Amino acid sequence: MSDDHGTIESLSSLAHDAQESYPPAADFRAAANQNSSDIYLRAAADPEGYWAEQAQQRLSWKKPFTEVLDWTNPPFAKWFANGELNVAENCLDRHVANGLGDRVAYYFEGEPGDSRSITYAELTHEVKRAANMLASLGVTAGDRVAIYMPLIPETVIAMLAVVRLGAAHSVVFGGFSAESLRARIDDVEAELVITADGGYRKGRVSPLKPVVDQALVFDNADGKPSTVKNVLVVKRGGNDIDMVAGRDLWWHEEITAYDGEHTAQGFPAENPLFILYTSGTTGKPKGILHTTGGYLTQVATTHSDIFDLKPESDVYWCTADVGWVTGHSYGVYGPLANGATQVMYEGTPDTPNWGRWWEIIQKYKVSIFYTAPTAIRSCMKVGRQVPEQYDLSSLRLLGSVGEPINPEAWRWYHDVIGAGKTPIVDTWWQTETGAIMISPLPGLTTLKPGSAQIAQPGISVAVVDDEGNPVSNGNGGLLVVERPWPSMVRNVWGDPQRFIDTYWDKFGDKYFAGDGARLDEDGDIWFLGRVDDVMNVSGHRLSTTEIESSLVGHHAVAEAAVVGADDETTGQRVVAFVCIKTQQEILAPEDAEVVLKKHVADLIGAIARPANVYVVNELPKTRSGKIMRRLLKDVAEGKTVGDVTTLADTVAITAIAKQVSGN
Ligand code: WT7
Repeated sequence: MSDDHGTIESLSSLAHDAQESYPPAADFRAAANQNSSDIYLRAAADPEGYWAEQAQQRLSWKKPFTEVLDWTNPPFAKWFANGELNVAENCLDRHVANGLGDRVAYYFEGEPGDSRSITYAELTHEVKRAANMLASLGVTAGDRVAIYMPLIPETVIAMLAVVRLGAAHSVVFGGFSAESLRARIDDVEAELVITADGGYRKGRVSPLKPVVDQALVFDNADGKPSTVKNVLVVKRGGNDIDMVAGRDLWWHEEITAYDGEHTAQGFPAENPLFILYTSGTTGKPKGILHTTGGYLTQVATTHSDIFDLKPESDVYWCTADVGWVTGHSYGVYGPLANGATQVMYEGTPDTPNWGRWWEIIQKYKVSIFYTAPTAIRSCMKVGRQVPEQYDLSSLRLLGSVGEPINPEAWRWYHDVIGAGKTPIVDTWWQTETGAIMISPLPGLTTLKPGSAQIAQPGISVAVVDDEGNPVSNGNGGLLVVERPWPSMVRNVWGDPQRFIDTYWDKFGDKYFAGDGARLDEDGDIWFLGRVDDVMNVSGHRLSTTEIESSLVGHHAVAEAAVVGADDETTGQRVVAFVCIKTQQEILAPEDAEVVLKKHVADLIGAIARPANVYVVNELPKTRSGKIMRRLLKDVAEGKTVGDVTTLADTVAITAIAKQVSGN
């Protein structure tokens, strides 16, 4: 752990108050789902009553709940615990029963240009068939199924089929390595993996099934083989793959045996829904556990209010991959619970060229668009002449998530994509929060570029100092959530102590988010980045420690330090400093950069690949022997090196600074 874990001093800079502000347009406000600020007051006066009302109005319950929140055993919250529901039925069957079967649930756009639209009736039918298929493969309530897929409709069908049976899924992003996939399969003890032969990415087929094969062959660190009994393979890429007899099955062959009759059963609201792994401050990713009733309540509420969804007329598009929480909450569960029509696009924004996203918006007349600042900055770099070639006039609301959006990117998004008229909702949340916690409401909030602004109705947050005392307006501190919320993380899978240590140790009954924040003079919240050893690269969380461990795991590396250096496009980039075991001459310093980048990508996944690897003679350390990552970050960013008074000696850092700057 670094020398600056969780302290306010580690915040690099404080944001400036906004000079500009954008009040909601009168016509937008008049038609908005939320257009009376009473909602904040009502929810604050009785948060549990507010959430109970949302749960009753927005969801259908097989058995109504009579308890709302059980907080008798903090930090282990239970919401609506004696109620029962079926998540898949809430996302599918009930819309069909309400006469909405012909509404499009997904417009799917494959990267090579193939497209399909799938109605709610069709999606329901396919999920029922898949549920029957999974049941006959032995999936039952309480099980976990691993999903390693491209972003295609079968991925959502697989997820919903799993939860329809009362089982939980663990979706692993397709960019993760065999080792990372295996660690997650082992941790949830999955007996079934659902994958595809491959998916399209950047104009090529990126193989997935071969990675699953590789993940399942070895014995893990505990000397154990995998728990997996079957691998179900969707045909997508058409790439050659091996099928292991007795273990592997083609989805399209198996599914023909099953019809579309399946009655959804109710399961208790605290039944696990999914486990999603996220990087923490230590090497091992945490399995964030979410359950059903509270989660679905909050994702449905926030999706409707923050995106001002009009399900009968809007076309909504969240660009996130389903391998991340944004894809779960705002690409699957929130929109489907609300009966929305969505776009799903398999590939990258630059394939075949940077016009792809704008072409899709034009084609489907997308009205609500939700993406990440890193993508906006990439598009900005390419230039406004690209989006200007498309008709984007269908857009009426834009969203941002993943990291603070810098005001410059905000303005470009607003002016170039939103024609200077669309509100932008800057939404702050985390894998752990399950749903959006802090965001403007577009019919009510006067927007300030760069600020996520205010807690949602029924959510109570504060910015506090290191002792947990709230700071006054104009000051910075740490973001905490003061009361339990319906979609909160319930546990770290298999490790309750880690759940307590990570989020609750610091402030007792307040949830510690790990983010620095500042309140402006109006009390609006400005996020300042992580205060722990977590990096944010293109809106994805990466652990410094996890990458350091993988580097040190290479036989030629003696020591490694990793920092997240500020980057114009990706927010941060991974920069590694390594000391090589020289005496053995096992890795020539000139080869080290290439070899070690590949090593990290192989071990964790391409998303963790360092942008730079510097071979250095020595790492800068304090007198007590701690690596001074703060100084290495300065060096990596080309800044003058900060306070060096606690260093054992300054030779190391001076040499590194020279090496990095190239003089
Ligand atoms: C971390 C959570 C759930 C969103 C996708 C990432 C940062 C996220 C914002 C925002 C400032 C943001 C925080 C947070 N973050 N959204 N609007 N403004 N920072 O989920 O991987 O769990 O990462 O992303 O640092 O802690 P995640």
